[in-house]
Amino acid sequence: MATIYYDQDADLGLLKNKVVAIVGYGNQGRAHALNLKDSGIDVVIGARNNGNSFRNAEAEGFATMSVKEACVKASILAIMLPDEEVTAVFKNEIDAALQENSEGKTFVFAHGFTVTNQTATFPASADIVLVAPTGPGRQVRSLYVEGKGLPALVAVEQDASGQALGVALAYAKAIGCTRAGAIKTTFKEETVTDLFCEQAVLCGGMPELIKASFNTLVARGYQPELAYISCLKEVKLIADLLFTQGMDGMRDAISNTAKYGSVIAGPSIIDAAAVQKLEQLLNNIEEGRFARDFIAEASAGSPVTREYASQEVNSRLARTGRELKSSLHF
Ligand SMILES: NC(=O)c1ccc[n+]([C@@H]2O[C@H](COP(=O)([O-])OP(=O)(O)OC[C@H]3O[C@@H](n4cnc5c(N)ncnc54)[C@H](OP(=O)(O)O)[C@@H]3O)[C@@H](O)[C@H]2O)c1
Repeated sequence: MATIYYDQDADLGLLKNKVVAIVGYGNQGRAHALNLKDSGIDVVIGARNNGNSFRNAEAEGFATMSVKEACVKASILAIMLPDEEVTAVFKNEIDAALQENSEGKTFVFAHGFTVTNQTATFPASADIVLVAPTGPGRQVRSLYVEGKGLPALVAVEQDASGQALGVALAYAKAIGCTRAGAIKTTFKEETVTDLFCEQAVLCGGMPELIKASFNTLVARGYQPELAYISCLKEVKLIADLLFTQGMDGMRDAISNTAKYGSVIAGPSIIDAAAVQKLEQLLNNIEEGRFARDFIAEASAGSPVTREYASQEVNSRLARTGRELKSSLHF
């Protein structure tokens, strides 16, 4: 059984009299900042002058300053930037802040990408910890406001102070995550499992299966609206069952027809060749090739991602979705 920490294992006192700099006031950063503030922690925001985040953070009452200034002022630096931007922001702002003041810093990440793939370097005197909520920032915030929390993953990469885990757990408590449970992991394990699952299942494999199944039906002359509802909309029903009841609970809840069909068809689609591709995908991530390709793609202005998105937005599947949205009240 994994080690799971709860509120009683975390001491908010480790964050008192410290300033937390939230670097990047986006999806995660805004939620962390608001929750930390509501937990009584002193928060400043580091953002670029001309960006939306600077204006938003100021409008929401935070002391807002340049990234460099925030990283000089604070001892806890929560790096809530897009993963592909981290190298440039270190080079342009954070490294300069560390030259002025690098003593006793703790770096907090919400994903292990930067540390696992070594896209930034850190002083030997710093602590480096992971507090990765298992969902988007708006859920981190809304659950906190309801008195609940989103589970998180916590890890320590570097423990110069001897207090790194304590600080990570205090941070997790301040953003509400130890109310639900914070699971102990490593940066590498979090990075690999997160990237692998988003590519193999959540954002890569499942959407492609939906698309290919929709296209197969439509190519045989079936109505696209019906194909869309069966292949895409109904995913939510099964996802909800999987989420609440697990794989066996889901199977118990479906019809006998669906049960038999699924055990015959599922393994024939996800066959030995598909499993071999999953293993190749995992190698690609574990050996750092995915990270290198992603950073190169981002530096070139994301041509592959943009081309794919423009094809997708014009596809029959997407058009059917837009048409149904305006005509079916569901
Ligand atoms: N999104 C999720 O659901 C999720 C879940 C778990 C973990 N994470 C992790 O959380 C971290 C943050 O991701 P996110 O999705 O919250 O990011 P995001 O919403 O894309 O946040 C972008 C923020 O970074 C700022 N920014 C971007 N480039 C910058 C630059 N060059 N200099 C200064 N500021 C810059 C943006 O400021 P401007 O307004 O000025 O552009 C904005 O405040 C990542 O490590 C991610 O993997 C995300």
